[in-house]
Amino acid sequence: MSSPASSGGPRRIIPVSSGKGGVGKTTFAVNYALSLSRHGRTVLVDLDTGTSSVRNCIDAPVGRDLYHFFRKGLPLAECVTTLPPRLDPDGRHADFGFVAAPKHLIEDITNFDLGHREKLIDAINALDARFVVLDLKAGLDANVIDFLPYSNSGILLFTPHLPAATLAAADVVKAVLFRKLRSVFAEGSPVYEKAGGLKADFVLGLLDQVEDVYEEDLPNLDAFVADLRHALGDEHELVVLVRRTIESFVVHYVLNMFDGVASSFDSAVKPFMESLAEGVSSQLTVLNQGWIVAHPDVNRASVERVPVVLREGMEAPAATAAQATGVAERELQALAERYLGRAARKPAAHPPRPRTERERTPESRAALTDPTRYLAGQLESMLRMLEDQGGRSYHENFRYIVARSLETVTARPIGDFGDARLYKRDEIRQRLLQRGR
Ligand SMILES: Nc1ncnc2c1ncn2[C@@H]1O[C@H](COP(=O)(O)OP(=O)(O)OP(=O)(O)O)[C@@H](O)[C@H]1O
Ligand SMILES: [Mg+2]
Repeated sequence: MSSPASSGGPRRIIPVSSGKGGVGKTTFAVNYALSLSRHGRTVLVDLDTGTSSVRNCIDAPVGRDLYHFFRKGLPLAECVTTLPPRLDPDGRHADFGFVAAPKHLIEDITNFDLGHREKLIDAINALDARFVVLDLKAGLDANVIDFLPYSNSGILLFTPHLPAATLAAADVVKAVLFRKLRSVFAEGSPVYEKAGGLKADFVLGLLDQVEDVYEEDLPNLDAFVADLRHALGDEHELVVLVRRTIESFVVHYVLNMFDGVASSFDSAVKPFMESLAEGVSSQLTVLNQGWIVAHPDVNRASVERVPVVLREGMEAPAATAAQATGVAERELQALAERYLGRAARKPAAHPPRPRTERERTPESRAALTDPTRYLAGQLESMLRMLEDQGGRSYHENFRYIVARSLETVTARPIGDFGDARLYKRDEIRQRLLQRGR
C-alpha cells in the first residue's frame, strides 16, 4: 500500500449486505473493493467470520488475520494482506488490502459479543484508508446490524435468482431503520422534553406494533406517522423528527447475476420496492447502483481464486443475448406499458442531483407513495443505465458501479451512502439528535 489515505477525496466505510446467503456478496465485495482501490487506498474486511470466504476468493498468502487482532492484540492495520505480484503484476491494485477472517472456526471470533464488536468498530474507524468495504454475514444478527450505517443500508445485494433473498433484503432495510428510530425514541431521550407528556413506552409500543408483521392495524411506518400526526398535529416536534428520520433514509442496491432487464425487474426490483413500500415505508429513497451480469467467468474466478477484475485485459467476456442493449430497451418499454400504461422516459443524468433532507420537495416524497411512480423511477433508472454501460460485460459493470459510488460519495451528504465512520450504539442517539435539528 503506497499512497496516503487522505489523498483523493472523502473517506467512506461501505458495508455490503444481503438478506440471505448465496447472492454473491463476497464475490461482489472482493471485486468492488479491488475496483475502488484504483481510486484510493481500500481495505476489505471479512466480517463473515466462520466461512472465511474472502481468503478463499483471493489466492494470496495470509500472514495475519482477525485472530491476530483479537487474540494477539495486533493493530488491525498490521493484519492487512496485500496482493502478491503474481496476482497484480503491474501494481494496478497496490492500494488494495484485505483483512481475512480466521482460517478456522473460533467461537468468540466467529460470533463476537458487544465488546468484540466495539473494539473492531474502533479499529475500522482508525484504518488509514479512503475506502473500507465490509463483507457482512447474510441475515440480521447484531454482527450485521452493528456494522451497518444507521442512516442507510450501505450496498444491499440481491439477485433475480433468489427471490427469498430479495424479500430478506427489504427486512435488512427495515431492521436498520427501526434501530435508528428506537435510538431516537429510547427511554430518557431528550426528544421527550418537549413532547407534551408523551412517554417513551407509548412511542416504543407503537414501533413494536409496526415492526410486528402480524399486526394489521399499523402495517408500516407511514401508518405510524399518520397516527402520530393525528394525535399531535403535523408540526409537532416529534412528528417532524420521525418524518425526517424516515425521509432521510437512503437505500442503495446492486443486482447480482443480472440476466436481463425484464427478469431482473419482475423478480427482484419490483418485489423489493413493493415489500419496502408495504412493510416499511413509501417515503424512502431507493437508488439502483447498477448490476453485475451472471457469467461463468465470475464463478470460475471464485474457484480459481483470482477475482475477475484482476483478469481485466486478459480475457474479453462475450455478451449474451439477454444483455444486448436493443433487446433490453424493448423489454423495458414493454414493462413500462404493462406497469405504467405509458413509455418509460430516460432520465437526463445519473445519479440524481445532490439533495439534503431539507432540500427535498414535497413532490419528490409524494412520488414514492404511488406504486406507478416508484416503479417508474426504477424502470427509468435502468433505462439510463443501459445507455451508460450497455449491460454487457462484468468489467464494464464493476467500472460503472465504482463510478457511481465515487459520484455518490462526492455529490450526496455524508451518511447517504456508507458513512465516514461506524458508530457504537451509545453514539448513535447523540448523533441522530444533533442531525435532527
Ligand atoms: N455474477 C455472477 N455470475 C456467476 N456466478 C456468480 C456471480 N456472482 C457470484 N457467483 C457465484 O455464486 C456463488 C455464491 O457467491 P458468493 O460466495 O460470493 O455469495 P455470498 O453471498 O457471499 O454467499 P455466503 O452467504 O455463503 O457468504 C459462488 O459460486 C460465486 O462464484
Ligand atoms: Mg460470502
